[in-house]
Amino acid sequence: MNHSMIPHLFPAIDTPSIFAPAGPIAAREALLGWGSAALGSVIFIIVCVVLAIGLWRRREVTTERADGDVSVIGKQEHARELRAIVIFGFVLPAIVLVGLYGWSISEAVALAARPQGQEVEVVGHQWWWEVRYPAEGVTTANELHLPEGVPVRLRVSSADVIHSFWVPRLLGKIDLIPGDTNNVWIRADSVGLFLGMCAEYCGVQHARMRFMVVSQPADEYAAWLASERTAARSAVTPTEMEGEKQFMEAGCAGCHTVRGTAAAGIEGPDLTHFASRLTIGAGTLPNTRGNLAGWIANPQHIKPGNHMPELPITGPQLQSILDYVGALR
Ligand code: CUA
Repeated sequence: MNHSMIPHLFPAIDTPSIFAPAGPIAAREALLGWGSAALGSVIFIIVCVVLAIGLWRRREVTTERADGDVSVIGKQEHARELRAIVIFGFVLPAIVLVGLYGWSISEAVALAARPQGQEVEVVGHQWWWEVRYPAEGVTTANELHLPEGVPVRLRVSSADVIHSFWVPRLLGKIDLIPGDTNNVWIRADSVGLFLGMCAEYCGVQHARMRFMVVSQPADEYAAWLASERTAARSAVTPTEMEGEKQFMEAGCAGCHTVRGTAAAGIEGPDLTHFASRLTIGAGTLPNTRGNLAGWIANPQHIKPGNHMPELPITGPQLQSILDYVGALR
């Protein structure tokens, strides 16, 4: 139910389905899904037929036993039963399972191949995503921008517990494990927004640990990356300047980084270009002034258990912080 909420908030996003792949890895995985389902259906039908035959034949034998040679019929039936058990209970399942296992392994090998070029680091946190472009010195959150049609290597890890990175239309689940780094690659073959989510239960707000994959034409992507590389926009208006002061003094700066300012906290998401992001609270709400006001005023109401504390600020202070943060494009 949570997953269907985001397409409602962002009409540009299709409902995430592994059967509507938009990239090569997802396409291979969708084929594996369909293949497994088809094979499972065939096996189900075979089992039903064998079961029906078994029931029918059992009745015949019972009839014969009533007036025939019980010992001879019993031995023949016993041998047939043994043969059926060996074929349908061991040989056939072994062939099917080994075949599917081989298929899955070949997919895993394809997923682990490491294309050269753009590299992005994704770090899972309770309950948000840190996204870094190390070569460019860019850090953002809850949004993974990709150049359309270009494979990008992802290095994924976790800062706390095990999470799982999943973009149903682009990439199957890959675990984010504390103290370890997994490598996968991703490619979006069309421009658009793709919903991603955490696929490993990681605590009370696991369901609100989502992110957006933004697939852009090459020039738009380059422009985005160039913009993200810059330091934060300076406060200009008096209320923005007041907001920056409040941001530094009220406690925001203790957890959040705003590059180019004194704010260098690392507990929460980097906010250098916060205003350019689509959502707040890791895909919880669209990034609007009203939602942000509610979020800052009482983060525990919107996302109970999340690590952002409620700060003792007045209404005017909140408004100035909204002016400041809302201008960090
Ligand atoms: Cu992170 Cu579930």
